[in-house]
Amino acid sequence: MINRGKGPWPSGNSEIAVKNWFISRVEDGLEESEREPVANLCLDVVTQMSKGFRITSDYLFPESVLDRLAIIADEICEGRPVQYILGSVHFMGLDLDVKEGVLIPRPETEQLVNALINTLDSEFDGQILDIGTGSGCIALSLKKNLRRAKLNAIDVCGDALAIAIDNAQKLNLDIAFSKCDILSDLPISTYDVVVSNPPYISPNELSSLEKRVRDFEPSKALFVEKHPLEFYKRITEICLGNTLKTGGVLAFECHKGYALDVKELIANSEGFEKVELIVDLQGVNRHVIAINKLN
Ligand SMILES: C[S@@+](CC[C@H](N)C(=O)[O-])C[C@H]1O[C@@H](n2cnc3c(N)ncnc32)[C@H](O)[C@@H]1O
Repeated sequence: MINRGKGPWPSGNSEIAVKNWFISRVEDGLEESEREPVANLCLDVVTQMSKGFRITSDYLFPESVLDRLAIIADEICEGRPVQYILGSVHFMGLDLDVKEGVLIPRPETEQLVNALINTLDSEFDGQILDIGTGSGCIALSLKKNLRRAKLNAIDVCGDALAIAIDNAQKLNLDIAFSKCDILSDLPISTYDVVVSNPPYISPNELSSLEKRVRDFEPSKALFVEKHPLEFYKRITEICLGNTLKTGGVLAFECHKGYALDVKELIANSEGFEKVELIVDLQGVNRHVIAINKLN
């Protein structure tokens, strides 16, 4: 049986009537500032048309589309992230598939990718390792922009890898994926760039997380078991072992409360130079990039 949405229904089938209705339907699930952008996104996805096209063609929403929007609005009010409901997310101009089991890529991670693209030459043809690839967002967008680079991506989670592999196939981007627990295994090669957005949230921060993060996103992608810096320590150590070449770039995304500690950790290891802290679009310390001067 087809799952039908619940009323109340919009006053008409025009763009404005449907959008206002949808915004009122998601009031209990979204902050005010989120409602209009989410409504625009949902209307675009369910109609598979842009807003401009709908308006200029006097598009009228059919009942089947209103049913689908009503179901989406109900799920949003239950707290499910809209990216999981729609099954996709825009990242660095790419449409990536996402579902429960993989972290939803965040806008600040686009900034990390852009910082790396700006650090590397557009003709860069070295080896890049993405640790904890999740949806594959970092590796895929680097490959899209640095076509000659050789991309390797690892994750401990099989479900995440399966989604990343599907995304790479859909986008026709060549990435070598493998399953690896970075806390116990060693990457098999030596790289020119190591990038990671690892888990960094302490379990005692659980209650301060938004419900949609806490209840829906994979705990393996969010939480550390011991110390918030455990992944940063381990990755920095293995980079200085044999994983990152001399002159190679290490790039991290960090918890806003620990980015300064990550910078100090890297600087104090005495194996790196040009250790740079990057502030994100929200004005918080978010990324650290450094160059390996050892090996
Ligand atoms: C914060 S998410 C980042 C996902 C993606 N790179 C992004 O930026 O959206 C951390 C990722 O690390 C993976 N992970 C957790 N523990 C790991 C481990 N011990 N070894 C390798 N990957 C791990 C998780 O499965 C998750 O995909």
